[in-house]
Amino acid sequence: MACKRGALIVLEGVDKAGKTTQCKKLVKALELSGRPAEMMRFPDRSTTIGQLISAYLEKKSDLEDHTVHLLFSANRWELVPLMKKKLEQGTTLVVDRYAFSGVAFTSAKPGFCLDWCKSPDVGLPKPDLVMFLQLNPSEAAQRGQFGEERYENSVFQNRVQQRFEELMKDTSVNWKVIDASQSIDNVHTSIQDHSLNAINAAQETQLGTLWK
Ligand code: TMP
Repeated sequence: MACKRGALIVLEGVDKAGKTTQCKKLVKALELSGRPAEMMRFPDRSTTIGQLISAYLEKKSDLEDHTVHLLFSANRWELVPLMKKKLEQGTTLVVDRYAFSGVAFTSAKPGFCLDWCKSPDVGLPKPDLVMFLQLNPSEAAQRGQFGEERYENSVFQNRVQQRFEELMKDTSVNWKVIDASQSIDNVHTSIQDHSLNAINAAQETQLGTLWK
């Protein structure tokens, strides 16, 4: 009998909302309960494309805005074969940022619309669940290290938040908003509940395609 596929679960939110901490906790909890799970993150800075992006984020290099947007997207596409393989093998993928960050961050720059920003990511594997960690950007700014990388300033993060709100109006995506100002454990409990539902539902459905 073919094994049941894993779920594609994405955590999104403004910088410092706690996505990475929560992704790690979720993977650990799923594994402890006997459900194979792995964490991925975008940008994946380990690839050649990811290194270009990383240098840009660390302000060691400058890239034209359209160009860097396409590089972020290419960085997702280059990982798609691996993602599909793992999902087919029954592994649930917990992903720290995905195409939604791509669109929210670039479209927060002057002169970019949502539609243009979405287009290179049309057709990516569609997440079974996208959890948005909601945190007031001024509260996020008070959490550690804010301000070291490109984009880490409150004015820009406010615009990013507004773009995420636009994206969350799309009911073709399974969005769940999580209050990230709660304690780490309470946030984790909500995330785990939503994830278990998504994992069960994914076993009965095929992997979809994003924005198509
Ligand atoms: P992180 O590695 O700390 O999550 O930071 C990555 C930064 O890159 C963050 O500011 C969001 C931004 N970003 C984009 O601009 N486009 C994208 O497609 C992704 C995934 C992230």
